[in-house]
Amino acid sequence: MQNKIDQYAAEIKAFATAKADELEAFRIKFLGTKGIIKDLFEEFKTVGPEEKRTFGKVLNEFKKLAETKYNELKETQNSELTTQNSDLDLTLPGDGFNVGSRHPLSLVRNEIIDIFKRLGFVVAEGPEIEDDWHNFSALNFPEEHPARDMQDTFFIKKNNGKDDIALRTHTSSVQVRMMEHGKPPFRAIMPGRVYRNEAISARAHCFFHQVEGLYVDENVSFADLKQTLYHFVQELYGEGTKVRFRPSYFPFTEPSAEMDVSCTICGGSGCNMCKYSGWVEILGCGMVDPNVLENCGIDSNKFTGFAFGMGMERIANLKYVIRDLRLFSENDSRFLKQFTAEML
Ligand code: DAH
Repeated sequence: MQNKIDQYAAEIKAFATAKADELEAFRIKFLGTKGIIKDLFEEFKTVGPEEKRTFGKVLNEFKKLAETKYNELKETQNSELTTQNSDLDLTLPGDGFNVGSRHPLSLVRNEIIDIFKRLGFVVAEGPEIEDDWHNFSALNFPEEHPARDMQDTFFIKKNNGKDDIALRTHTSSVQVRMMEHGKPPFRAIMPGRVYRNEAISARAHCFFHQVEGLYVDENVSFADLKQTLYHFVQELYGEGTKVRFRPSYFPFTEPSAEMDVSCTICGGSGCNMCKYSGWVEILGCGMVDPNVLENCGIDSNKFTGFAFGMGMERIANLKYVIRDLRLFSENDSRFLKQFTAEML
C-alpha cells in the first residue's frame, strides 16, 4: 500500500495542466466517487490495527495532497479564463435580458386610479362570483324584468330552483357591497374583471374589465357628476377634450346618461374610430336611484349620490387603437411590449 501511495503521490506532484478537461479527468481519477482515494480508503478498512495507525495518517496526507493540487490548478485556470484565454472574448456585448412591460390594461387602470385618487376617491374591490342580490336585485333590476337581459349572464348555481350565483356581469355589484357595509359618505372607484356570455370575437369577449365609480353624500347633484367626469376626461385625454351627456337608461340610476368624448383619435374631425361622428362613448352614469340607496340601508331622503361605470378595454382602445379585443388576453409578448406609461 505504501508503495502504491508513493507512486501516486509522485504522479500528483508532477501533474500540471492548463486545460479544464484534463484537470477534470485528474479530479475524477483521484478524488471522484469511484476514484483512487476512495479505493484506498476501502482497502484501508481491511488492514490490521497496527498498520491502521501509520496508514491512516499517510492516507489523509495523500488525500490532502490531491485536493491541494486540484484546487491550485483550478484557481490558476479560473484566473486565466478571465484574463487571457483566447477562447473568451471579453469585449463581446453581454446577453440582453428582457425587461417586462406593463399590460396596457394595467396602465389604464393605474392612470384612472391616479386621477380619482387625487379627487379623494378610494379604491375598493369585490368578488367576481356574485349572488343575484348584489349583481341585480339590490341594483333595482326587478325579477323577470327585461333589463336583466341587457347583460348575458353566466349563471353557475341555482338556489330553490332559481338562478342565484353568477359571474358578475358588471362592477356595479361592488357599489352595493360598499354601501351595505359602511356609512356615507362614500367616494370610491372599483376596478375589476367582469363576465358576459358572449361569443368571443374581435369586438366582444366573455370577460373584460370595468371601473365603477360611486359618490354618495348629502347634497350630491348631477352638476357634481358632470364636473367630476369632465375633470377626469381632461386629465385622461388632455385639456380641451370635449364631453357630452346623452340621456340613457340603467335600472340603478335615475336619471341616467351616457357620456361621449370628442374623438381621441381625430379630435372630432371624423375618422374610423368615431365612425365619422366626431364623438366616442366612454361610460354610463347617473344619479344613484333612491331604491338602490334604500336597498343598501341608506336613507334616500338624506343622501344622494352619483355613479358611473366604464370599460377599461374601451378606454385603452381610445388611447392605443387596438382593433381586436382578443389581444388583451392572449399575452403575446410582441403585443404587450409595445406599451409604456408615457404613451398614455
Ligand atoms: N353597469 C353598467 C354596465 O355594465 C355600467 C354603468 C352604467 C355603471 C351607469 C354605473 C352607472 O355605475 O351609473 O353596463
